[in-house]
Parts: sequence; structure tokens; C-alpha cells
Amino acid sequence: MSFLDLAKERYSCRKFSNKQVEQEKIDKIIEAAMAAPTAANLQPFKIWLLNRKDLIDKMSKATPFTFSVSTMLVIGANKSRAYNRNFDGKNFAEIDASIVATHVMMEIQDLGLATTWIGHFDPVMLNSEFPEMEKYEVVAIFPIGYAADDAKISELHYNTRSKEELFTIL
Ligand SMILES: Cc1cc2nc3c(=O)[nH]c(=O)nc-3n(C[C@H](O)[C@H](O)[C@H](O)COP(=O)(O)O)c2cc1C
Repeated sequence: MSFLDLAKERYSCRKFSNKQVEQEKIDKIIEAAMAAPTAANLQPFKIWLLNRKDLIDKMSKATPFTFSVSTMLVIGANKSRAYNRNFDGKNFAEIDASIVATHVMMEIQDLGLATTWIGHFDPVMLNSEFPEMEKYEVVAIFPIGYAADDAKISELHYNTRSKEELFTIL
């Protein structure tokens, strides 16, 4: 499948079956994450795997969007390891970690799995439940699994602004 077809096929899945995610697929997702480009190749990110019920229960205190899955990945940006632009000091950690998260999201899709990028979480609660994340800016939480047979594509998926609005030839 072409990348464009894969990108168009992807949607945010919010209902999952009980089928477990195989370890080989987790390994591939991490491989895709590690292939992501980062500014000055500094790789200022960390990925955490949550694959036990007690960890998912802890995560459900920080976000309502766990969808009862058994596998989640969290992507954190590490500002202290990232490139700072000389001109204005802009720190690239969150940009880098978001590219990594995009690789993760698309690899999940390519493997026949499903996910939704979760940004709606309480960072204070997250850090208190997972102190290892405290030194990072979490940019994405991914509940991962196989889409339920009756998983639906949300209306938001089709809410596309026009090409004229989004793209300009200068
Ligand atoms: C940075 C980011 C944060 C998001 N946070 C959430 C979230 O917390 N909960 C949720 O249900 N969906 C979340 N989404 C999914 C978006 O709502 C979804 O991608 C958008 O509506 C387009 O739909 P589609 O992914 O089905 O194409 C997030 C997506 C992105 C890119």
C-alpha cells in the first residue's frame, strides 16, 4: 500500500476488540519510532509501554480515553536533551517527539492495528501516577489494539477544511 493510501485509510479508533497486541508488533512500532528524524539527531524522547492492567488503571486516572485496551504507549519529549535554535533559543523537543509519535501512529496503522492519538489528559495526575514521566513533556498517549467489528469513524474525521484554505502558492 502506498503511504498516501495508508494515511487516508487511518482514522481515530475509539472501540477495540479483546484481541491482544503481539510482542512482534510492539517491536516493529518501537523500530518505526527509532527511525524518526529529530533535530540534530539528538533523539530527545522516551517511549513507555504500559501492558499490565494495573498500569492501564493508573492511566485511566489521568485520561478518560483508555478505551479498555491492554496496551498503551506514551511518548515524552525531553527538553534538556533537545536542539535549541541559535537565533531565538526555540527548543525542538516537542516537535521531535511529535514526529516520533506520528511514526508510531502510522506504523500501528500499517500493522493492521488501530489507535487514537490522545492529548486530552491531566498532566499533574499523569506525573503523580507515573513519576518516571515527570521530567518529560508528554506529547501523545496511544491506546493500541485491534479495532472492534463495530468501531465507527467519528464525524470529525470528515471535517476537512478546503485545499484553498490550507494551501497557498506564494
Ligand atoms: C495532537 C492530537 C491530540 C488528540 N487528542 C485526542 C483525545 O484526547 N481524545 C480523542 O478522542 N481524540 C483525540 N485526538 C484525535 C482527533 O480528534 C482526530 O485525529 C481528529 O478528529 C481527526 O479524526 P481522525 O483521526 O479520525 O481522522 C487527537 C489528535 C491529535 C493529532
